Amino acid sequence: MNVGIVGWRGMVGSVLMQRMQEENDFAGIEPVFFSTSQAGGAAPMGAGTLKSADDINELKKLDVILTCQGGDYTKAVHPELRKAGWKGYWIDAASTLRMEKDAVIILDPVNRNVIDKALKNGQKDFIGGNCTVSLMLMALGGLFRNNLVEWMTSMTYQAASGAGAPNMRELLSQMGALYGTVDKELADPASAILEIDQKVTAALRDGSLPTKEFGFPLAGNLLPWIDREVEDGQSREEWKGLVETNKILGTEKPIPIDGICVRVSAMRCHSQALTIKLTKDVPIADLEAMIANDNEWAELVPNTKAESLAKLTPAAVSGTLKTPVGRVRKMKMGPQYLSAFTCGDQLLWGAAEPLRRMVRILSE
Ligand code: HSE
Repeated sequence: MNVGIVGWRGMVGSVLMQRMQEENDFAGIEPVFFSTSQAGGAAPMGAGTLKSADDINELKKLDVILTCQGGDYTKAVHPELRKAGWKGYWIDAASTLRMEKDAVIILDPVNRNVIDKALKNGQKDFIGGNCTVSLMLMALGGLFRNNLVEWMTSMTYQAASGAGAPNMRELLSQMGALYGTVDKELADPASAILEIDQKVTAALRDGSLPTKEFGFPLAGNLLPWIDREVEDGQSREEWKGLVETNKILGTEKPIPIDGICVRVSAMRCHSQALTIKLTKDVPIADLEAMIANDNEWAELVPNTKAESLAKLTPAAVSGTLKTPVGRVRKMKMGPQYLSAFTCGDQLLWGAAEPLRRMVRILSE
């Protein structure tokens, strides 16, 4: 199986390459590496020379195209290839094709049945989901599988990486700049905290911090809006919660999901506070077992302060495939109202992992 790989040098692409090497995925495929800027140069892993990512004739020869090049590339190249009669599998992580009728959103630990049905139907476009949606479903797949979710709200705490690699750098630069405004005072234990705070607040407001990427300070701050408005004051990131979850699950009657998406100063883990209205009252121990047993990555964190702070944070989860779920308890609104908190690496299950697993499914 010839697999053309595009956008392997960027942040998501690099995570993808690393995961494919760790899992020995390259043993089952013939990789052909493409580049938008360095065609003719040496391909990685001794795989010959780089081909041009715009060369439709070269792309047409492939059984599978796996791209992390982004939405603009998909928008430009995918229709050209299909117009030219290409019948191969297209796998990407961009939102461009996600909601197309013939496209499948891939998250195989949760929707392998939907993927298998699509393969049988001859569908060819397999697209990774939005990161918050994929991470939420990896965490709470057990509740959805048991038809226990009547509706859900998801309040997110999204990391800088979701906005891009330059944003991660900018966040750290902002942190450094803030520290620089008060480093002398911090070194003096007798200095007044309110003076320190005043200086930090002044720096957050006076335009001195680097804000080219985010437009605003994120360090020492948060940003309660992600992506553009869709309608009725709902952001596109919030809109994806309902439409993508239901498409991934292949629900007949859509499950309402809504919330507020917020950018916080984490590096690459998205966290979410969830309120779930259950379809029926189920004992908490049964709910916990469903969550924990659904897939090998959804780890249940006992609802204690010590376990939550040790295991349910970006610092604990970053760089791992775990999607821990904690703070699970019945809320005071009644026995059918459940709270939960989850955290996951948005570059792994939120981006690269579903893609490499789809290549595996095709190559098996
Ligand atoms: N839209 C996400 C974010 C990125 O801004 O965090 C991954 O889908």
